[in-house]
Amino acid sequence: MSAVTEQQVIEALSKVKEPELGRNLVSLGMIQGIQIDGGKIGFTLVLTTPACPLTDVMDKDAKAAVGALPGVKEVNIKWDSKVPTDARIADRLGGQFKNTVAVSSGKGGVGKTTVSVNLAVALAQAGATVGLLDADIYGPNVPIMLGVDKAPKPREGKLIPAYAHGLRVMSIGFLVPPDQPMIWRGPMIHSAIRQFLNDVDWGNPDYLIIDLPPGTGDAQLTLAQSVPLTGAIIVTTPQEVALADAVKGYATFEKLEVDILGIIENMGPYTDPQTGQTIAFFGAGGGKRMAERLNVPFLGTIPLDPNIREGGDAGKPVVAERPNSPAAQMFKKIAREVAAKISVLNLAE
Ligand SMILES: Nc1ncnc2c1ncn2[C@@H]1O[C@H](COP(=O)(O)OP(=O)(O)OP(=O)(O)O)[C@@H](O)[C@H]1O
Ligand SMILES: [Mg+2]
Repeated sequence: MSAVTEQQVIEALSKVKEPELGRNLVSLGMIQGIQIDGGKIGFTLVLTTPACPLTDVMDKDAKAAVGALPGVKEVNIKWDSKVPTDARIADRLGGQFKNTVAVSSGKGGVGKTTVSVNLAVALAQAGATVGLLDADIYGPNVPIMLGVDKAPKPREGKLIPAYAHGLRVMSIGFLVPPDQPMIWRGPMIHSAIRQFLNDVDWGNPDYLIIDLPPGTGDAQLTLAQSVPLTGAIIVTTPQEVALADAVKGYATFEKLEVDILGIIENMGPYTDPQTGQTIAFFGAGGGKRMAERLNVPFLGTIPLDPNIREGGDAGKPVVAERPNSPAAQMFKKIAREVAAKISVLNLAE
């Protein structure tokens, strides 16, 4: 029997769909370096994100398709990834970052910074390059939550971000003494946020996570005008009073025509690992109900877990410190889902 040709392998793989994007692996440019050695076939599958949630499905489907060709005895897949750039960002701020995700809420104190930090660390752990911009110029909390306080030094006219837990990090907290109150007038907010986007040497990370101040004011508007946002995440707590504010947060991004990647419910029910008892301190299920009402994706519930608060205060994000805890697992699941949704926005049919 004559050996399989490269053309046959390509044809077989062009019938395999990327499950999330709904397009075939070949048309997405995901197949590279096909090698044929008699009945042994090898190739590299280049994912659209290293934090891909569905590699198992693609592994199975691609092996089945190529394995069904006559004479094929073995199929070996190597994995790689290349995150696509949001075309609107490439046009305006090419080379600074590939995708931007704003983390927002209507209400203060619901866990935006906690979510931003842990999602960023989860994406970096999955192998993505990640920047974290603390856009909360009134109360910058990212330095504490990551345990960094070093002022970045300028190089060739640009600020170098700090580096912590695998992230490139920038915060006004690096530039202003921590106990000094910050009084900002509108134009100053504009220029501060613009500088963080333009004058920091971000080095083109796959994802720039942007931690916003509470509310729906100036910072949100400036941000949306200064950089195309690939998407926004809304954080809420489960109870009704917080939900009402979260709806306002949603409406702001809707007006600004920013895609909502989904809603995260934070401070949800916690199950004590010792006793097995579940406590729903702020109630349960409100985030999911709100997502259904607004017809946006629900990304998941993070439990109200004392380890999250301790990790935040100690500069040790729970995802890095207790990677196997239910809270960390949920952050990682949400991070993969967010990465997949960004790929869909950039590449889906
Ligand atoms: N799931 C959780 N379990 C326990 N504590 C949490 C959880 N999420 C956040 N916290 C704690 O709640 C406090 C507020 O969280 P965080 O600072 O992330 O909220 P925020 O929305 O960014 O607040 P602000 O509006 O002031 O910026 C912090 O002390 C944090 O450690
Ligand atoms: Mg915050």
